[in-house]
Amino acid sequence: MTFPEPIAGMARSYAHSLHHESTMSETPQTIRLADYRPPAYAIDHVDLHFALDPETTRVTSRLKIRRLREGEPLRLDGHYLELISVAVDGRPLETGEYQRDNHSLTLADLPDACELEIITDIHPAANTSLGGLYTSGGNFCTQCEAEEFRKITHYLDRPDVMARFTTTLVADKAGYPVLLSNGNLIASGELDDGRHWAKWEDPFPKPSYLFALVAGDLARIEDTFTTMSGRRVDLHIYVQHHNIDKCEHAMRSLQKAMRWDEETYGREYDLDLYMIVAVDDFNMGAMENKGLNVFNSRYVLARPDTATDADYLGIESVIAHEYFHNWSGNRVTCRDWFQLSLKEGFTVFRDQEFSADMNSRGVQRIQDVNVLRTHQFREDAGPMAHPVRPDSYVEINNFYTVTVYNKGAEVVRMLAHLVGSEGFRKGTDLYFERHDGQAVTTDDFVRAIEDANNADFSQFRLWYSQAGTPQLKVSHRHDTGQQTLTLNITQTCAPTPGQSKKQPFHIPLTVGLLNAESNDLPLCLEGEGVPGTTTRVLHLREATQSFTFTDVPAGTVPSLLRGFSAPVKLEDDLGDEQRYFLMAHDSDPFSRWEAGQKMAVKTLMGLVDDIHAGRPLQLDEAFSDAFARTLADDRLDPAFAALALGLPTENYLAEFIQPIGPQAIHEARDFLRRALA
Ligand code: SER
Ligand code: ZN
Repeated sequence: MTFPEPIAGMARSYAHSLHHESTMSETPQTIRLADYRPPAYAIDHVDLHFALDPETTRVTSRLKIRRLREGEPLRLDGHYLELISVAVDGRPLETGEYQRDNHSLTLADLPDACELEIITDIHPAANTSLGGLYTSGGNFCTQCEAEEFRKITHYLDRPDVMARFTTTLVADKAGYPVLLSNGNLIASGELDDGRHWAKWEDPFPKPSYLFALVAGDLARIEDTFTTMSGRRVDLHIYVQHHNIDKCEHAMRSLQKAMRWDEETYGREYDLDLYMIVAVDDFNMGAMENKGLNVFNSRYVLARPDTATDADYLGIESVIAHEYFHNWSGNRVTCRDWFQLSLKEGFTVFRDQEFSADMNSRGVQRIQDVNVLRTHQFREDAGPMAHPVRPDSYVEINNFYTVTVYNKGAEVVRMLAHLVGSEGFRKGTDLYFERHDGQAVTTDDFVRAIEDANNADFSQFRLWYSQAGTPQLKVSHRHDTGQQTLTLNITQTCAPTPGQSKKQPFHIPLTVGLLNAESNDLPLCLEGEGVPGTTTRVLHLREATQSFTFTDVPAGTVPSLLRGFSAPVKLEDDLGDEQRYFLMAHDSDPFSRWEAGQKMAVKTLMGLVDDIHAGRPLQLDEAFSDAFARTLADDRLDPAFAALALGLPTENYLAEFIQPIGPQAIHEARDFLRRALA
């Protein structure tokens, strides 16, 4: 196994930001969370009909509309669509009866409830934006998140409008033998002119961003899954014919994910069919369209002779991620795009925990922390810093970020730690039950966890609204007479764009104490009579706080931020000897790895200084001794040992060195690797 490249979420966010559209001639508009208003109309049902043709596809949309608020016209989104006709309750409208521009179609004076029929033409082969309906390798496919459905037809293209969809696809049978859309196939047939058709029905209301269709000449592998209530679900993976021998791992991963979500969250799949389609041209890693996931083929295709271990793990995690969205994203969705982390943060947390259960938990945690620290911490420290729930955006595609995805996952992880695993399950049960079929906010999520646990997370909510990485400074003092160990802790957070002053965060700091014999001590805080567990969470809520543990013998070493219990930068006052001790003995895999990494950073920074000063480079013996100890420890999980023996990346080192000297960092790291080898 190699050090992970930025996995799943990263691939999604980076790729996505490539295709944001320039609004060159039009003034970009800032959208603000504070301006949110519920929709003035509901759409209860959508019936779509596609006459598929790569050059010109005719889209007929029949919408059952219901007014929710008086006095407002119906303004439908639409992105450069060729409008053919509009009719209300069967009556075609004259051009003067509606208004339109390149982004909208507006209808005034509608009845309280009506059926609207809109016919538009679109041009899939000419659509190179990879949004809306386009062709990839001769096949049709769609990508509608976040606001791309409006490239297909006029619609209330916002996630808080949830409707039931039926979709009919008509296409040339020879060129497009496979016709897929969301939900269950309810009818199909042939036409006289060599075309055929298929009609799909999705019984679950969904926002437009979850719509999908696929049409083409694809091969499929099939399997099944029996749900916990005994229902049989057909599982289909579609790929290009020559890739048919590379789907086995994706299928196994899907079945594992389905079982895990039942066991861990009590979530059962809801349709009779689950489909995955792999396409070569895809902006993101994959997309969780209801019942019809579309994947970038690199997250589906693998065979032992062509794929690495990291590829296998990446596929397992992305397949699971998209599957988990069926509940965290689809059944319960986002009210608006400021709430993106509601589904992404939670779902990344879910896929991380799934991977931890399937593989090595310690290694998984270290890899996830690595992604966070090398990419998200930098985002949080730069001009693009934004909160997990942003307050405003100009282009939503630019907010598919490591902050929304990976820091969002850390925020959910902290909540899970704060209430414990049983409490968290109670909280998510309540969340799914309370909000099934709704479009909600991150605040609703936190409230469900609070309500199920009688907790108060008012201060904790700052993690959603304040950007920046908190910095903790921890000093420790042992009192030999009293046999106590006191931790003094301060927290600060540097200003970020638009947020010059920060309030203290509620930070769960997980700690342990190792005595000189390298055993974990049962922990007892001053004032508590009885010692408890050997690992516990300290609640930091103020700028400065201290905690005193009793019955602590001399020579005890604190192990701080176990499991990386919060997305913070931690500076402590441990000496090199104490750190080498943790590196050799800490029972918490993350903290053990971290101690080794800190010593590696320190050693490397010394080497960078030597390079700048023109001194000859030498291998530090204390470091190589400690390194050798880990190398020789054959009780260690080999995957963990491999990580513990890996040096920090150049990217990560750059966080510690000002000004960043890429050449010196590279040279120092290269020297240390060679010297150790
Ligand atoms: N919603 C997609 C995903 O997270 C794309 O970002 O899988
Ligand atoms: Zn996702």
